[in-house]
Amino acid sequence: MTAQKHVKETNRDENCTPCSQGQSTHAPQGLPPRSKIDVKHVILVLSGKGGVGKSTVSVNLASALSAHGRMVGLLDLDIHGPNIPKMLGIEDQRPAVLAKVLEPVHVTGKLAVMSMAFLLPDTSTPVVWRGPMKMAVIQQFLDEVNWGSLDYLVVDLPPGTGDEALTIAQLAPNLRGAVIVTTPQDVAVLDAVKAIKFIEKLEIPVIGIIENMSGMICPHCGDTIDLFGRGGGEKAAQELGVPYLGSIPLDPEMVKAGDEGRPYILRHANSPTWRAVDAVMENLVKIVES
Ligand SMILES: Nc1ncnc2c1ncn2[C@@H]1O[C@H](COP(=O)(O)OP(=O)(O)OP(=O)(O)O)[C@@H](O)[C@H]1O
Ligand SMILES: [Mg+2]
Ligand SMILES: [Zn+2]
Repeated sequence: MTAQKHVKETNRDENCTPCSQGQSTHAPQGLPPRSKIDVKHVILVLSGKGGVGKSTVSVNLASALSAHGRMVGLLDLDIHGPNIPKMLGIEDQRPAVLAKVLEPVHVTGKLAVMSMAFLLPDTSTPVVWRGPMKMAVIQQFLDEVNWGSLDYLVVDLPPGTGDEALTIAQLAPNLRGAVIVTTPQDVAVLDAVKAIKFIEKLEIPVIGIIENMSGMICPHCGDTIDLFGRGGGEKAAQELGVPYLGSIPLDPEMVKAGDEGRPYILRHANSPTWRAVDAVMENLVKIVES
């Protein structure tokens, strides 16, 4: 099964000059109707800068929510570098196709995953994506996947604010808003602030900021070391008047969990990092479900 097979051929935007010039921030023409996916809360996970831990946060938040009894879909929209399946150890699985509807990969009874990685023949082959193709794939990920009835759809996005964020914001129902992941360094926080201003302009609500890699848990004694500093995310949240969801330490076990394909949150219950992720999840739930 190839990506192309799943991309509906559409000539809709063929003559759209901004698309052919590769501009990504305009609203696509001929927008399809908002998806009828059955979901209570759609949460976008965004960042200004790459590599700050969006995918890690998405995987662990989704796992934590499902561990708390929510029905969760995890949608990997990092079309250029989809790595959620690897982090969950399901990269070799493929969604079944039943009556033209894709069955997401079920990690547990309460956590289902869909990713471009499942559809690409091999993820090391670069694919050139045009804006309208991305839109068609995202639409199919919402409408032609058998998600069932979800409490949450957690959407992992590529860094920055490109086509994917715009498209999902336009197509998804019940968009509660975006969670912004940053690291404590000034440059990362500055990029996060820029990203927040940008998404506010697009009228995507900001659920809150998460500071990831905030202090490091020493692998020897378990104490916290201030590697990149701490508190930049919280300060930015205060200045921007958006909620602060909490901080997650840099923990070598987190890297191991990602590499080994088992979410950290599922196997280190009650460690300081686990408590940090759990607190972030609880704060998010308070905001979203209140
Ligand atoms: N709290 C953490 N402690 C230790 N390592 C972490 C933590 N968060 C993320 N990492 C590691 O940092 C690397 C980058 O994380 P991740 O892929 O989640 O970032 P990203 O923001 O999704 O990146 P991209 O912008 O490329 O999509 C990974 O190797 C991951 O295991
Ligand atoms: Mg990522
Ligand atoms: Zn130590």
